[in-house]
Amino acid sequence: MKFKRTIVITGGAGFIGSHVVRLFVNKYPEYKIINLDKLTYAGNLANLKDIEDRPNYRFVKMDICDFDAFYQLMQDEHVDGIIHLAAESHVDRSIKDPFTFARTNVMGTLSLLQAAKLYWESLPEGYDGKRFYHISTDEVYGALEMNHPEGIEPPFTTKASSGAHHAAYGDDFFYETTKYNPHSPYSASKASSDHFVRAFHDTYGMPTIVTNCSNNYGPYQFPEKLIPLFINNIRHRKPLPVYGKGENVRDWLYVEDHTRAIDLIFHQGTVAETYNIGGFNEWKNIDIIKVVIQTVDRLLGRTEGEDMDLITHVTDRLGHDARYAIDSSKLQKELGWEPSLQFEEGIEKTVRWYLDHQEWMDNITSGEYEKYYESMYAGR
Ligand code: NAD
Ligand code: TYD
Repeated sequence: MKFKRTIVITGGAGFIGSHVVRLFVNKYPEYKIINLDKLTYAGNLANLKDIEDRPNYRFVKMDICDFDAFYQLMQDEHVDGIIHLAAESHVDRSIKDPFTFARTNVMGTLSLLQAAKLYWESLPEGYDGKRFYHISTDEVYGALEMNHPEGIEPPFTTKASSGAHHAAYGDDFFYETTKYNPHSPYSASKASSDHFVRAFHDTYGMPTIVTNCSNNYGPYQFPEKLIPLFINNIRHRKPLPVYGKGENVRDWLYVEDHTRAIDLIFHQGTVAETYNIGGFNEWKNIDIIKVVIQTVDRLLGRTEGEDMDLITHVTDRLGHDARYAIDSSKLQKELGWEPSLQFEEGIEKTVRWYLDHQEWMDNITSGEYEKYYESMYAGR
């Protein structure tokens, strides 16, 4: 079959990547979608069971640092688009092992850029019709002030809803123009990769786009991240390790809202632009944790809130960023994107998914991973 385009999605076996692959495979049968993933601890092909037999889908197990293999793939498949999500993505792991983050996130991204450059520049049409779309994080901007630790009424929220949970906790946001100021080895490595991507546009004219998104939540997230970890622990009545006082603020977006934005920006975004993606949805960790406990309890038929005593304050994360909050109005105004779900709906949907997919969770939490996980938190 002849395809209209061939797009490589890196990191497609991970959390966000699997949603992007699913969306593109289903929505664009005229595109060939190649999921390129090394299958690290975070990559799981079970995330894509429903689409693995589609004629427009191919999985390639590859390390993004393998320049020769990727250059060959570009040539063999006539790749004209790259959506790059493969990364080491967990801040706590980056604190323990920064080298792996520099290798994959910085050198891996550079390797993809260089291979794409050599291949695209070898074609008669050059960069025409090509795209290198790099998925990054709001964490590159550093941390915002907590000017209003108690929260203020929500002038910034897209859909005002009752309760202090939706209040903003500061006076400022991260804008596309905010100066980079990463603090963790993870965010430093992502910042560095963002700079390389922009440098390839500015130096060689490669048609690149970078987006910086806030914290995602939803199905298929690896259970080392706050929300799936806590849902699983509540189910099994295991302690919930809250770092420090739990006062840190994150801006949460349902993963399918992120993937809709990625689709829109890949097709309609302006080359060399940056777009911030976020839901205007700031929450303190401790407030999210309470909602998750109530939701899990309710859906399991327990008394709502009976598992609050699982909350266990542990030693804070080193260099823990106080607050993230994204201003996504550029994306909303220029491309007409907006988040589709209220947070309460998104959390309900997410908790329900994890409770209904216990087998998916058990496969991950059994065996080697469990041992690693325990060693990560030993002494906390
Ligand atoms: P994830 O950890 O769930 O998945 C990462 C995927 O990349 C895995 O499938 C893994 O096997 C693959 N991978 C890792 N190293 C690789 C390598 N060397 N070669 C090939 N594949 C490799 O991550 P995620 O949460 O889905 O994040 C995806 C991207 O989105 C990352 O670039 C991350 O920085 C960015 N991002 C994530 C969030 C979030 O809240 N999760 C928010 C904003 C941006
Ligand atoms: P996480 O899901 O790791 O995302 P990120 O660090 O990229 O924001 O963590 C979200 C917030 O939850 C962050 O402030 C750290 C905190 N946290 C805990 O309190 N306990 C935990 O066990 C984890 C994983 C995170």
